[in-house]
Amino acid sequence: MKQEFIFLGPPASGKGTQTELLAKELNLPHVDTGSMLRAAIKNGSEEGQIAKSYMDKGALVPAEIVVQIIKNRLKEADCNNGFILDGYPRSLEQAKFLDEILEEINQNEETKILVIRIDVAKEFLLDRILNRRFCSKCGKIYNLKNSAPKVENTCDVCAGELAIRNDDTEEVATKRFETYTNETAPLVEYYEQKGWLKNINGEQEISAVFEDIKKAIQ
Ligand code: AP5
Repeated sequence: MKQEFIFLGPPASGKGTQTELLAKELNLPHVDTGSMLRAAIKNGSEEGQIAKSYMDKGALVPAEIVVQIIKNRLKEADCNNGFILDGYPRSLEQAKFLDEILEEINQNEETKILVIRIDVAKEFLLDRILNRRFCSKCGKIYNLKNSAPKVENTCDVCAGELAIRNDDTEEVATKRFETYTNETAPLVEYYEQKGWLKNINGEQEISAVFEDIKKAIQ
């Protein structure tokens, strides 16, 4: 059966960390709009330049840019058996658009769709953001406080140099929290009504959160 997962949660709740683990466990592609937009910025594309101006402010990138990215990606062959969505949808408009895409790509296939909402109180999130580092080569996520690399500033997996995201400042993070509350949080109710929602306590250690996710999706 096809399996499609949507991860919801505020900035730094652990969506990227958990979706990476689940993608490996289930051998499904991890479709992460934040990373795709950062790649577009790095490539210097016009869309990337537009996206950057919104991401640097902690706002949502305009729908027309994200829609094309997500639509094309979910139609690629490696998504035929399912996928794990991280960072999409982020508004009711995006959720309704995703409903249309899912209808189109799933047709009459038997499909399990679940929304994993990682719940973490705001008081923990800023600390996680300010201590986050990522590998500039392979993208692996670290945290200087609780999942630091073995060698300072060096990725354990590929020896790439670690970097800090442009939007991981206190000022931009504050805006990202506001954007989440105003535009993304209403999706919790939207997916609860569809019967797709699974709530996960994200205030535990990374491995304990992952165990809860595995139980929830059985
Ligand atoms: P995006 O990159 O998706 O950022 P985000 O949603 O703000 O989420 P984060 O990546 O900050 O956090 P996360 O939940 O993945 O946590 P992580 O696992 O890294 O989006 C960035 C921007 O792109 C948006 O602001 C927007 O502008 C734009 N964008 C993206 N998608 C869009 C869309 N659909 N439409 C429009 N615009 C869009 O963990 C965080 C830290 O905590 C790490 O250091 C990690 O090691 C640590 N950590 C993880 N789990 C735990 C734990 N259990 N305990 C302690 N520490 C932990």
